[in-house]
Amino acid sequence: MKVVLLPGDGIGAEVVAEAGKALAAVAPDVETSEHPIGLEAIARDGEALPAATLAACEESDGVLLGAVGAGDYSWSASNPEDGMFALRRALDVYANLRPFRAGAIDLVIVRELVGGLYFGERGTRADGTVFDTCEYRPDEVDRVLRRGFELARRRRGRLTSVDKANVLATSRLWRERATALAADYPDVELDHLLVDTAAMRLVEAPESFDVIVTENTFGDILSDVAAALAGGLGVAASASLGDAGPGLFEPVHGTAPDIAGRGVANPTAAIRSVAMLLEHGLDRPAEAARLDAALNRVAAGLRTPDQGGNATTAELGDAVVAALGADARQELADA
Ligand code: IPM
Ligand code: MG
Repeated sequence: MKVVLLPGDGIGAEVVAEAGKALAAVAPDVETSEHPIGLEAIARDGEALPAATLAACEESDGVLLGAVGAGDYSWSASNPEDGMFALRRALDVYANLRPFRAGAIDLVIVRELVGGLYFGERGTRADGTVFDTCEYRPDEVDRVLRRGFELARRRRGRLTSVDKANVLATSRLWRERATALAADYPDVELDHLLVDTAAMRLVEAPESFDVIVTENTFGDILSDVAAALAGGLGVAASASLGDAGPGLFEPVHGTAPDIAGRGVANPTAAIRSVAMLLEHGLDRPAEAARLDAALNRVAAGLRTPDQGGNATTAELGDAVVAALGADARQELADA
């Protein structure tokens, strides 16, 4: 099995280094290779997603991405973010699963990842007007909705489809398709929420949600809201899956330029993303569970600054590796 590591920008390299150690410790047979994406790639090759990086990803069994972005929003020929968008699109990983767990909160946001406002036509007209468009074909909506239904069926059986159907045509299609597909999933209870209401409800009563399925931009925004309620971006992992081919696994995101280079970023989101890679990408649920358990035990005692502690990125990563080793020795002793 082959996994591609894409450290990317900002804290990406710092957290992916720890994620790589954790992967090597829990699944030593998995081969890894590292490739540039984002700013580093632009500096080296002039493009955010070099052809060699994409080829390596396409030939792999799973891709682990750190983060990309410069924190500079001026127009340029090649933005670091474009590399990530191109990669998401090339792998056609349309279903981005973002689980959030903390106390009574246990929900998953399924964010449509390769369409909608992010990928619609955009441009500038002669009079200076700038536009972005949101478009969806019915089959693009159906395939991600089905992922939502299937996930809900394996969990608590409740799916909330989030849209802005009182305003947007794409949202009316979204709602119509969700209602039509519900007939195929009689065991799932479907409801619809407008995105503004969903944001409010997430803050007021996050424990009331099971699975949320929504458009790309809505999912981006709501997942940061959910992250804020469940420990922050430092602990939020994600899996982006298509129908075939490798999945893309990454923290819910942030290059965190304010703390980059200081070795204090929380690697939990990246290591959790490795657990999601093992489970969803490599079909190795036992190792995924071992890694999750090790991480839970470490996180209970060792905290990086975002969680109110003073542990470093590497200390947390090393502790996870040590916990995996201790578990393995315990299993041998028990056997
Ligand atoms: C995310 C991030 C990205 C996105 C940014 C970095 C472009 O916010 O994965 O949520 O909007 O998709
Ligand atoms: Mg985001």
